[in-house]
Amino acid sequence: MDKFEEIFVKGFIDEPIDPTLDLFDEIEKLKKEKNAVILAHYYQEPDIQDIADYIGDSLGLSQQAAKTDAEVIVFAGVHFMAETAKILSPEKKVLLPDYKAGCSLSDSCPPNLFAKFKEKYPDHLVITYVNCSAELKAMSDIVCTSSNAVQIVESLPKDQKIIFGPDRNLGTYVAKKTGRDLVLWNGACMVHEIFSMQRITKLKEKHPEAKFIAHPECEDVVLKMADYIGSTTGLLKYTIDNPAKEFIVATESGIIHQMEKSNPGKVFIPAPPNNSCACNDCPHMKRNTLEKLYLCMKNGLPEVTVPMNVIEKARLPIERMLEISARLGI
Ligand code: 13P
Ligand code: SF4
Repeated sequence: MDKFEEIFVKGFIDEPIDPTLDLFDEIEKLKKEKNAVILAHYYQEPDIQDIADYIGDSLGLSQQAAKTDAEVIVFAGVHFMAETAKILSPEKKVLLPDYKAGCSLSDSCPPNLFAKFKEKYPDHLVITYVNCSAELKAMSDIVCTSSNAVQIVESLPKDQKIIFGPDRNLGTYVAKKTGRDLVLWNGACMVHEIFSMQRITKLKEKHPEAKFIAHPECEDVVLKMADYIGSTTGLLKYTIDNPAKEFIVATESGIIHQMEKSNPGKVFIPAPPNNSCACNDCPHMKRNTLEKLYLCMKNGLPEVTVPMNVIEKARLPIERMLEISARLGI
């Protein structure tokens, strides 16, 4: 198998690594050698978060991707995030440690079906959550993330008709917060959909002092119980600013690494999913490992590319989001 076939089959180049190598040192050397920057999402495994140049939520990572002067962006996250970086910096090489790191939410909205859905609402503006494919972004008027979705909808005239996709849970949350009647695509994230209201209720009884915090990708029944709802950056900030000593956390478990680092002595309890076989790990985010990160930097592969005609159309809605966020100081 050549390298490209191997990436197609496995998602990464499965080369043996000398066990005596210190991967942290090797990755630092490769960063300098290749003028590379590592951008990592909070859902990555702790080792990857610790070696990253920047850790953040989807908005923060897009802002970094737009402004970095590194020649290579190593995206420790999932495919749609690396695509967004490529759209914002088409002249740069964008690497993804495992090409198969996808996203169930993005997959729940195939572009051809969304195009037909959009046709039914010709007088609506299209706002898409960043967790979608580049093709979907190219069909949108404005992109948003969980940290600016409410403000982006509020920035539009009250009588503006809006389609919101692909996440129905974030869409429901935004509709409630803004009082707008949004037309929603029926998509969802496999990690945030499985939290159990009954089990969370029991856990809260056991930990009456704990604050319950949740990501807006969770279902409405779960969000109704939350003391705070926010993006991953918002959740992290809340644990720092709030004096509580215990937090029940309804989002992907990777964020707990930063919460523990930022809050020595505080306790973070992952919110329980609805069956005991499940966990709060995103199987897509967790495809990336320190070993794959090292191999991708060494080989310059897997590389994420986006066709130029898609870049041209997808760039404007992302830039609109970045402009509105900058104007509002988000
Ligand atoms: P944020 O990083 O914007 O909070 O989104 C979480 C997520 O699901 C990323 O895939
Ligand atoms: Fe997609 Fe959900 Fe994983 Fe985020 S946590 S990458 S939305 S599947």
